[in-house]
Amino acid sequence: MTNEQLEKLLSELSLEEKLGQLTQVEANFYLEHTGSDVTGPEANIGLAPDDLKLMGSVLNCVGADNCIQLQKAFMENHPHHIPLLIMQDVIHGYRTQYPVPLGLACSFNDDLTEACARMAAKEASLEGVHVTFGPMVDISRDARWGRCMESCGEDVTLTKRMGSAMVRGFVHDGGENTVASCVKHFCAYGAPEAGRDYNNVELSERTLRQTYLPGYKAALDAGARWIMPSFNSIGHLPMTANGYILKDILRDEWGFDGAIISDYNAYREIQWHGAAESMKDVAEITRHNGVDMEMMSATTFLHSKELLEEGRITMEEINTSVMRILQEKNRLGLFENPYRFADKTAAESYILSTSCRELAQQAAEESAVLLKNEGALLPFGKDMKKLALIGPFAAEKGIKGAWACAGRDEETVSVYEGIKTMLPDVEILVDAGCSYNLLNDTPIDVLTANAERAAALAKEADAVLLCIGEYQDYSGEGNSRCEIRLPLQQRILAEKVLKENPNAAVLLFGGRPQDITDIEPMARAILYMWQPGTMGGAAAARLVFGEVAPSGKLSMTFPRSVGQEPIYYAHQTTGRPVADPNIPGAPFPYTSRYLDMPTSPLYAFGYGLSYTTFEYSPVTLDTDTLTVDGTITASATVKNTGNVTAKESVQFYVRDLIGTVARPVKELKDFKKITLAPGEEIVVSFTITEEDLRYWGKDLTYGSDAGTFHAFIGPDSNTQNYAEFKLVK
Ligand code: BGC
Repeated sequence: MTNEQLEKLLSELSLEEKLGQLTQVEANFYLEHTGSDVTGPEANIGLAPDDLKLMGSVLNCVGADNCIQLQKAFMENHPHHIPLLIMQDVIHGYRTQYPVPLGLACSFNDDLTEACARMAAKEASLEGVHVTFGPMVDISRDARWGRCMESCGEDVTLTKRMGSAMVRGFVHDGGENTVASCVKHFCAYGAPEAGRDYNNVELSERTLRQTYLPGYKAALDAGARWIMPSFNSIGHLPMTANGYILKDILRDEWGFDGAIISDYNAYREIQWHGAAESMKDVAEITRHNGVDMEMMSATTFLHSKELLEEGRITMEEINTSVMRILQEKNRLGLFENPYRFADKTAAESYILSTSCRELAQQAAEESAVLLKNEGALLPFGKDMKKLALIGPFAAEKGIKGAWACAGRDEETVSVYEGIKTMLPDVEILVDAGCSYNLLNDTPIDVLTANAERAAALAKEADAVLLCIGEYQDYSGEGNSRCEIRLPLQQRILAEKVLKENPNAAVLLFGGRPQDITDIEPMARAILYMWQPGTMGGAAAARLVFGEVAPSGKLSMTFPRSVGQEPIYYAHQTTGRPVADPNIPGAPFPYTSRYLDMPTSPLYAFGYGLSYTTFEYSPVTLDTDTLTVDGTITASATVKNTGNVTAKESVQFYVRDLIGTVARPVKELKDFKKITLAPGEEIVVSFTITEEDLRYWGKDLTYGSDAGTFHAFIGPDSNTQNYAEFKLVK
């Protein structure tokens, strides 16, 4: 449709039809709706059956046939036959699952991430989805927060890169088999007080702008046409009602002209936050703050008429939002083809096809992080006779990850299946040893006896893989944890099993950094698989038996204890830094230290081992003086000094020594993933411009300062390999 046609359509709509466009409800309102009394779920949000004829969008309609049937019936009943927009959470795959985003970000591989999102978009669009609620680019610096699993981790640059790659993969220039993207949760949802989901966020505006906002902006620049305000309040103001951020920053400063959709029930929650007295007030506040569509509540639909009559909102405000929704529908071509790419036959042949599985497997392989490998215990040789596969995740199919859309456990390859398929002749002794439950209600003597039984198997095997960690349902929305250690029964199991066999390695699962400080000294090797998706077990088999070398690098810091949270590498020094962050309490008492623990993490951001070793040359600069219009190229030679071909994510950090405000000790600016054969070396270069050195300084001005900087090139955020340069103005 042309813009004039859309304007004409808008002018013909009744007020109720307009308000309907601004409302999104669950698809089961229709699919289960009987058409008689309001006894179905719609009753909960105050809608009558006739109101459902006017809605603008649905979420959670699964399956091409369902989407087509729902759309057809809906359009027939709608007075102007306006199609529904079908939205869905496609977080780490539609049916074929790749690793949870926090894991995928460890791949430090933009192309792979884009390809995964592209595959998910294809599966989803063939099943009838028009828009995905993704990517989630909430910076996560506190492992207690369960939703860090859906994020790209703690770092601004990594989040920008991975988030944009996901958007590109979903949107793919609006071509065939694509979906539109709704970036979320705007903003700073990943910084709730005490790591507890939905909790209030307190941030300075500098931190908000410096650290939390760039990821959303990058996703919008990459082509996301939708954005979702977060559940949390910032500085006591619920985000869905936060005019400063939604209007002044998002609309006016950034010029965003796409659509804003609330999170689930978030309109009503403004009242529950205690920031509005009635639903009618909520409808007024949100209208003034520029939110266009309301998810799973009907305050706009039910109260706008009265608000208009009382002069509290204007028809212009309503028209602006309706026009945005119509424009986004039009952009997707829904007026010409309301079913878009929904096609059951094509979906059946593409979904879970070999190409999807291969990609999911590669993603799982590149996401895995080798945390420890004493004496090169891994990879195991394939010539063994007997392998003991111990632990609750040994044969468990619930490793695909939470928030898995149409993904199914039964379609997931377990570790047992992965290894059995690869090595049919190896005898595999399997014992879960304990449950994966978070809370334990089994008596200790029973736990101990079970662990001893498993340990006896471990003793008689050539090698042991202890598969432990966090079950998929213990991270994700609403799943904050106060304690991020392995559950008690798993610690007992680890203690018994690991000492029985010198060839015992840990295969760790989970959706967040965990505190593994107590089992780490007992384990010679630890490979973190995250929640690896549909092909997790197959990827684990290839990694453990050396068909591919691990190349993942941590997207989020692993603490020594939950008490260190929030912990992240890009912190400031403070005026009283500890002299040696690895020594508890030492050496000078009045420093920013812990008495009982080092301040350093167990594993830093960007850390991850390989089956080979890489040597980094000192950093060289083509010039040590940067002018405002100039560039500096920083280079280092990276050499594979081991004897297997492997990938390495080469990381480039910058430190600004003096600013108008305190600056982080290091900030990731760029990274490159390279592949090196044994003995091979490559010069890896990064370019710096003045723009890369800008930050939100004193008085919230965005700019750079003349002065001294360090350019680091290394394998992780602990690197001290740097060269010094000056910015002159
Ligand atoms: C989540 C969003 C999600 C929405 C729709 C909410 O509970 O916070 O991330 O997109 O539900 O499923």
